[in-house]
Amino acid sequence: MTLERAGAGRFRSSCEEDTVAFGRAVAPLVRDGDVLVLTGGLGVGKTHFTKGLSSGLGDGREVTSPTFALMAVHDGGRIPLFHFDLYRLEHAYELEDTGIYDVLGYEGVCVLEWGEQFQDELTDEFLGIVIARDEGAAADSALAEERTIRLEPHGARAEELARAIDAALA
Ligand SMILES: Nc1ncnc2c1ncn2[C@@H]1O[C@H](COP(=O)(O)OP(=O)(O)OP(=O)(O)O)[C@@H](O)[C@H]1O
Ligand SMILES: [Mg+2]
Repeated sequence: MTLERAGAGRFRSSCEEDTVAFGRAVAPLVRDGDVLVLTGGLGVGKTHFTKGLSSGLGDGREVTSPTFALMAVHDGGRIPLFHFDLYRLEHAYELEDTGIYDVLGYEGVCVLEWGEQFQDELTDEFLGIVIARDEGAAADSALAEERTIRLEPHGARAEELARAIDAALA
């Protein structure tokens, strides 16, 4: 594993396993009500982060992208993980049907992929986890698997969580 801290709230992932390991490192630090908003383009590693988080919480089942179901619950671990993928959601009024308002900010840890498009309808207290590819890395180059992971906390609890993640990986 070569997951590295690269300054406050910044990490370097050099392969899929690093991003999974990052999720696993976050798992012991989350508590009921925490909201993690994962951003970054298609295929950047949001679902792999969630795999690590779920396994770190102790749920042994596989995490896939809930693109069609919109929400998947992994409740076999320390606290429930509600995994949302809002990529296919077109209108904010459809959020109601996903069940997100029943749990967001209250129960378990909520992880949102493609949630930023509905920021105003969701919570303003969340930890943003921004995953970015190396600009300009050719698809077939050694840099193609490099990712920068950046924490962007919104609100006091998210700041506390970001500090805890930073300390755990220092
Ligand atoms: N450093 C890395 N971290 C995570 N995934 C990586 C990394 N390098 C390469 N990959 C590859 O990138 C892909 C990430 O897929 P994943 O489904 O996790 O992305 P995603 O952000 O959830 O995509 P989508 O936007 O389609 O939901 C996988 O094929 C994985 O093997
Ligand atoms: Mg995904």
